[in-house]
Amino acid sequence: MNQFFLPLMNDNIDKEDINSVIEFLSAENIPKLTNGPKVVEFENAWGDWLGTKYNLFVNSGASANELTMLALAHILGEGEIIVPPLTWISDISSVLFAGHKLVFVDVNLTNLSFDINKLKAAITPNTKAIFLTHVLGINGLTDELLDICEKNNILLIEDVCESHGTTFQGCKVGNFGFASNFSFYFAHHMSTIEGGMISTNNLEFYQICRALRSHGMTREMTSPSMKQSIIDANPDLNPDFIFLRPAHNFRSTEINAVIGLSQLPKLDSKNQERIENFDIFISNLNPEKYHVAINTEGNCNYAFIVILKKSSLEARDQLESKLRENGIEFRRGLSGGGNQMRQPFFKSTYTDFSDFPVIEHIHNFSWYIGNYPGLERNKIVKLLEVLNG
Ligand SMILES: Cc1ncc(COP(=O)(O)O)c(C=O)c1O
Repeated sequence: MNQFFLPLMNDNIDKEDINSVIEFLSAENIPKLTNGPKVVEFENAWGDWLGTKYNLFVNSGASANELTMLALAHILGEGEIIVPPLTWISDISSVLFAGHKLVFVDVNLTNLSFDINKLKAAITPNTKAIFLTHVLGINGLTDELLDICEKNNILLIEDVCESHGTTFQGCKVGNFGFASNFSFYFAHHMSTIEGGMISTNNLEFYQICRALRSHGMTREMTSPSMKQSIIDANPDLNPDFIFLRPAHNFRSTEINAVIGLSQLPKLDSKNQERIENFDIFISNLNPEKYHVAINTEGNCNYAFIVILKKSSLEARDQLESKLRENGIEFRRGLSGGGNQMRQPFFKSTYTDFSDFPVIEHIHNFSWYIGNYPGLERNKIVKLLEVLNG
């Protein structure tokens, strides 16, 4: 029993998913349990659902982020990566771990993605990629952002870990970037317990990611010509043990893929419930107290987004105590707890936030609250009563 009247999350995994694992494990001949045919089957099913050609299942969304940034460093060299301060920590650490330079650009209150003018100003000849986060199911893309990438020849990487099924102009996000990253952590739109996916239409990037998923081993590549050219360039090495660059083991197991295969067919109908819940929520939230002018076209949220209009610490504390009193679980600061530039390891790097007014407001005066399939209407009504009161 959850102690909260309205908990932050509800595990997506149901009896049917568990039964699919039991069935898989009960096969007369014990199946291969590490990365194998079920992983490939899940990758293909995911590609059919999303619409991308190449899909790589990994053991978390954070691994998808890190692998993507490592592969970019391998292909393009290290450079500047533009990131929002409103994101998950792995979007920051992946950039640093791969040897790139972080460039933070403030967000906007309409789609919680980059402030477009500040984004333009942050581009330099050394910008390798814009690493966008679609925050809590809100589409972060605009035509202008895509134009900026195209005109400046900069790659767009989409972090869709919080936004499976969100669309831009009718097409699922995760299809617009050079690559996109997803998480299947237990409370996200769908779950594989832990897990993540990298999706792309670029063959070279995919092949590099295949190697980097398994310690950097080139024998994991499926393109015979790419594999052969590396073997030819390293005649002194055993072709079975050529490591492209120092890397990690990001592989998942067959069990996680079996759960993914059972979860995926249910994703669209569960998303529909989340969309309906969010519409009820946002259209009844008091616009005098809260910022409700969020662009909800194509949204698909697993959380309700609450942003106070006033910058009042007193109002914030009152609101939090009311939520607590009513058993409503919440997290302040939206994705990742607000301004990532304020984390302890950046204390001496970033001290002046005057160019970051929006994330500073979000840091102190915003929350997310659980929105999941099966959430009872009366709980949404109660939540609105508490917030609007
Ligand atoms: C935007 C974003 N990126 C990456 C991640 C990391 O995903 P995981 O928890 O599967 O490592 C998360 C996790 O919640 C996230 O919200």
